[in-house]
Amino acid sequence: MAGGGVVHGTADTSRIEAPVTVKAYLMCAFAAFGGIFFGYDTGWMGGVMGMKYYIRQYTHIQYPGPDADSATKALFVLPGWQQSLLTGILSCGTFFGALIAGDVADRIGRRWTIISGCLTFTVGCILETASTTLAVMVVGRLIAGAGVGFISAIIILYMSEIAPKKVRGALVAGYQFCITIGILLANCVVYATQDRDDTGSYRIPVAVQFLWALVLGIGLFLLPESPRYFVKKGKLDEAARALANVRGQPIDSEYIQDELAEIIANHEYELSVVPQTTYFASWANCFHGGLKSPASNLRRTLCGIGLQMMQQLTGINFIFYYGVVFFTSLNTISNPFLISLITTLVNVLSTPISFWMVERFGRRNLLIFGGTGMVISQYIVGIIGVTVGQDKGKDTNKAAVSAMIAFICINISMFASTWGPCAWVVIGEIFPLPIRSRGVGLSTSSNWFWNCIIAIITPYLVDKQYANLSSKIFFMWGSLCIISVLFAYFLVPETKGLSLEQVDRMLEEVSPRHSRSWVPHSTFAAEMGLVEKGIPLGGPTAKQGDSAEETEIETHNAPANKEIV
Ligand code: BGC
Repeated sequence: MAGGGVVHGTADTSRIEAPVTVKAYLMCAFAAFGGIFFGYDTGWMGGVMGMKYYIRQYTHIQYPGPDADSATKALFVLPGWQQSLLTGILSCGTFFGALIAGDVADRIGRRWTIISGCLTFTVGCILETASTTLAVMVVGRLIAGAGVGFISAIIILYMSEIAPKKVRGALVAGYQFCITIGILLANCVVYATQDRDDTGSYRIPVAVQFLWALVLGIGLFLLPESPRYFVKKGKLDEAARALANVRGQPIDSEYIQDELAEIIANHEYELSVVPQTTYFASWANCFHGGLKSPASNLRRTLCGIGLQMMQQLTGINFIFYYGVVFFTSLNTISNPFLISLITTLVNVLSTPISFWMVERFGRRNLLIFGGTGMVISQYIVGIIGVTVGQDKGKDTNKAAVSAMIAFICINISMFASTWGPCAWVVIGEIFPLPIRSRGVGLSTSSNWFWNCIIAIITPYLVDKQYANLSSKIFFMWGSLCIISVLFAYFLVPETKGLSLEQVDRMLEEVSPRHSRSWVPHSTFAAEMGLVEKGIPLGGPTAKQGDSAEETEIETHNAPANKEIV
């Protein structure tokens, strides 16, 4: 078939995806490893900023002596502006990295974008490890952040595009699992090196990251490119080879033909609805269409951006970023670091259940269920805080604090098994191929943007000198979770078990609230008349298109307007 054959496509909706071998499953699962970068990089800085060696190195303040008074000890910290700068600059890099990653992925491919993310990250890491001054560390964080931005956005895109539909949710949830492992590993390494009185205290946690870049970079080098990328570029021969590779099937198998034809037909259909013209127009396409139509690009882009925003507004990072400070403020806990370590462990252990739940109950149900669970558990923490906890001005009640910690852990489990993975799963599935890479990039940027906002504003919300919300902050997170549940109920479609092309059709025919019961009834290949006619691979009808480098294949039956619902 390669080198100029013809693929015909199928009218049978059950044949639009080739069966998958174990090797192919393992290949898809490997990409999830990219989550380690995300988790580890957000996890190490907080601990390092509290290390005495690091504080002395960056502030030139000498260690307070054993009999120094508490005022002197309190001065031995990194100034607030340095803490904000070091935390915020990573998010700044990741935000812009994720934003431009979509463009890069359409130009050089998903795989090479992730590999270049690893290289960028390595350069940032070298600077961070070598740094002994704030300026070098800040530049290193910015560059490493850009690398993490590339990786965090494009891994989702790559995995969603190559994973088989039946287990796509579970495999992408594996990415979330790796994020949680990354956070845990960062905590453990920082815990182990925090008391060292040399540069190893911060250089070891930073340098460990080289390993992630090495493993992911080399692994991706060996994996195939996404077939959907080749379809977008009009390289249909290469698309066929890549598809055969990710499915572990011979290139001339009928299954590969049918699946490839469906991807091509869907892409052609999407281009016939919203043509790609210039570079700027192709960006503008992400915001094309009306707000009322679930299938419009605008609605899908807002859904992705909003979903990632609501994931951050569940308040999960309050616990991971400020857990130690919050637990210390409860007064009865002797080792807040240990409690913080336990919360990260709960996060790791609760995530794998989502591999099964996301395919069994679907994305929507999980988001609604998990969001409701977080409302309840966060309100309970808040209620305990204001009734029997320290907010009453009484001596803190040990039993009350234990109950608060227990409900905080329940809240983490709820997040880890629902909103944590599902937000990533859904953004990989809702965009049509012409805008998919940018849509995923925009959504991932939204995650980093809100991540950064929360990191910056939370200290002001809980600090005694400012809003002094203390445990009342859980009422705020709980209330935001109510909005998350409503968001999921009204705006998030159910994508379980559908191919990415079927998701496209489903969005045109039903609203998110009715999406669960939607059943595929036709194929794009049949509707575009490609079953009989066939699509020549590399033949005369497949040619490089306009400046946006889209493929154009002569089509018929393409509806002119997709604002159906
Ligand atoms: C979120 C991160 C969070 C992590 C916790 C991810 O899905 O995007 O902000 O720290 O989950 O496991």
